[in-house]
Amino acid sequence: MKENVFIMEHPLIQHKISMLRDERTGTNEFRRLIEEITVLMGYEALRDLPLEDIKIKTPIETCYSPMVSGKKLAIVPILRAGLGMTGGILTLVPSAKVGHIGLYRDEETHEPHEYFCKLPAPIDQRTILVLDPMLATGGSAVAAVNFIKQHGGKNIKFMCIIAAPEGIKHFHECHPDVPIYCGHLDRCLNENAYICPGLGDAGDRIFGTK
Ligand code: PRP
Ligand code: URA
Repeated sequence: MKENVFIMEHPLIQHKISMLRDERTGTNEFRRLIEEITVLMGYEALRDLPLEDIKIKTPIETCYSPMVSGKKLAIVPILRAGLGMTGGILTLVPSAKVGHIGLYRDEETHEPHEYFCKLPAPIDQRTILVLDPMLATGGSAVAAVNFIKQHGGKNIKFMCIIAAPEGIKHFHECHPDVPIYCGHLDRCLNENAYICPGLGDAGDRIFGTK
């Protein structure tokens, strides 16, 4: 596997991804699983979060003890499906700021189209975790990271639950400096640029739309 690409092989993540894939899994359970998987993946992806020593008075004495300087983390879900992962990261780092990038794939060309963007300032001083459950052609993730970099973002990570090899290759070629944290690497894309075996349309399954 390429440098800067981390596939999460933890058995709990793999078990929950199998439940996600099942077409019988309904909206409620699907949302819950996306959030649980994000918590498990986030634990690993945020391993290098900066710490600061805070003065704390224990019942015994006063000491300095490390705490996450959470104000420095920005989460940027790619709308819509990335929204399903946001709560999972906020469970771990409740004080993180949340930006949004709205992108949808054209059904014919599979090219991403942007319709919304709002990033927390100062973006250049934050660790930025971009969230999207699916990395298919990679077009949406590449466009999102292009946009964040144009606005000054530097320390960027990308987290997805399922990726196609085509998406990993495309993203890695465009942004070799951005680590990819992925729950499972699937086989390939089909003729409609859907991931095989995948889980179908993540946004529709999270929000119960069709
Ligand atoms: C899905 C998914 C990604 C994108 C991945 O979003 O959530 O954003 O497709 O495909 P790509 O790697 O080929 O760009 P979609 O465009 O279906 O929008 P939605 O989240 O609103 O359903
Ligand atoms: N977007 C999805 O939601 N699923 C896929 O398989 C590909 C892109």
